[in-house]
Amino acid sequence: MASAPTLSKVSLSFVLLFLSLYASSAISHRLILDPKEPVNTIKGDYAGFVPGKIVEKKFSFFGDSGPPVEDLGHHAGYYSLPHSKAARMFYFFFESRKSRNDPVVIWLSGGPGCGSELALFYENGPFHITNNLSLTWNQYGWDQESNIIFVDQPTGTGFSYSSDDSDVRNDETGVSIDLYDFLQEFFKMHPDFVKNDFYIFGESYAGHYVPALASRVNQGNKQNQGLHINLKGFAIGNGLTNPAIQYQAYPDFALDNRIITKAQYDNVNVLMPDCEQATKTCETQGGNSCFRALRICEDIFDRIVDFTDNINYYDIRKKCEGNLCYNFTNVETLLNMQKVKSALGVSDDLKYELCSDAVHDAMMQDWMRNLEVGIPALLEDGIKLLLYVGEEDLICNWLGNSRWVHAMEWSGQKAFGKSPTVKFVVHGAEAGSLNSYGPLSFLKVHKAGHLVPMDQPKVSLEMFKRWMGGKMTRHKHEKIIKHKPNTM
Ligand SMILES: *[C@@H]1O[C@H](CO)[C@@H](O)[C@H](O)[C@H]1NC(C)=O
Ligand SMILES: *[C@@H]1O[C@H](CO)[C@@H](O)[C@H](O)[C@H]1NC(C)=O
Repeated sequence: MASAPTLSKVSLSFVLLFLSLYASSAISHRLILDPKEPVNTIKGDYAGFVPGKIVEKKFSFFGDSGPPVEDLGHHAGYYSLPHSKAARMFYFFFESRKSRNDPVVIWLSGGPGCGSELALFYENGPFHITNNLSLTWNQYGWDQESNIIFVDQPTGTGFSYSSDDSDVRNDETGVSIDLYDFLQEFFKMHPDFVKNDFYIFGESYAGHYVPALASRVNQGNKQNQGLHINLKGFAIGNGLTNPAIQYQAYPDFALDNRIITKAQYDNVNVLMPDCEQATKTCETQGGNSCFRALRICEDIFDRIVDFTDNINYYDIRKKCEGNLCYNFTNVETLLNMQKVKSALGVSDDLKYELCSDAVHDAMMQDWMRNLEVGIPALLEDGIKLLLYVGEEDLICNWLGNSRWVHAMEWSGQKAFGKSPTVKFVVHGAEAGSLNSYGPLSFLKVHKAGHLVPMDQPKVSLEMFKRWMGGKMTRHKHEKIIKHKPNTM
């Protein structure tokens, strides 16, 4: 691998699923963390490290002008990961604005390496940031319907940090161990919430994290490990879950949406056989072969983006402006303010970066892994899955997601494939189209890109509420669009 010489650095910094593409030699080099780009570290901070301990505080972002801290039920905390040398996982916990009996939800943003504050402040959190860095309530925040936790993970992401580089995670085993440990301790600290329904939500690269965590929680429950976590379902928004199928869908999606020509489509498709072969090898051999598969397959995506005129690959209706294709600088400015860090119990030595390159690079062997494999067992256990996909997203587009979910083998596969496509109607307007059977629902969201709750806040809150309440289907406004005899 180290011999491939020439490719110049094509660096696409993705918001959620953000890739850095380098020559193959550079990829393998970047396996080892570049000391100039460390994971968030506070050197030598082992002293206060008590494995398994949570330190949490209530806070208010509104200062004296807002409601009293006690009434808000807003918490920020650090959890000292027991399966680490000295890693601390940062999280926010917002009690529901409506009822403490609402479900408990954990939210995971993607990257890998992007802090969940991206969602918190721009998508489904309790507030949005204004340009003068003040906060306003988000009337469509998911804390209207749930008690919601936003976690910075894997270690080194957002305000999560370690004093030891060996704590960096490289795969879903590590990710799910840490999150499961965290949930156990979280519910010990908040015993009032253990009986509530529990859901796992995530976006983009969390198409890997979410199934991995759901399987870990289900396993813990079945083996009576620790507290029983009342897992009812898991949901993925514009996720990367089954890369072999999703990479194949790029040219088709791009052509269907006329962002490339037929000649360009043919040009890109030449790359497909090598990508398929490399992905298979990754599945059987793991390790370096997964880097190789990523490098080969990523060419497909790169070529498509190069053929376009600076398209925003999270939302093909837009141009890519700013280094994340959107301008999210406000959240970094806000979270780097000394008074904000202090309110949250974060050390002033930590610099908040929305997406960490080091965490991202450390997860590159994980990227091409197929996380669909654990899902059928969860469905058979009656744990429900919602896939919701903004239809204007290229990078984790609906077509690739629809294909893998239809190809997934489980007892309801045929019935799901034959399920009628119905309109998803919100306040009288068609907001998407839905297929569902038994525990599985697939919702294509209209007029939304990669970040569905940012683009369609009202629709996504309604989806959130209906799905958790078991009212996603059989809604009175539901209308059959067409019967679909085949998979895609
Ligand atoms: C900040 O912006 C918000 C909304 O854009 C406005 O309501 C508020 O008055 C502004 N605050 C200051 C201090 O300028
Ligand atoms: C992003 O937004 C910030 C704050 O509104 C602004 O100062 C900055 O110039 C913007 N950056 C870009 C690249 O547009």
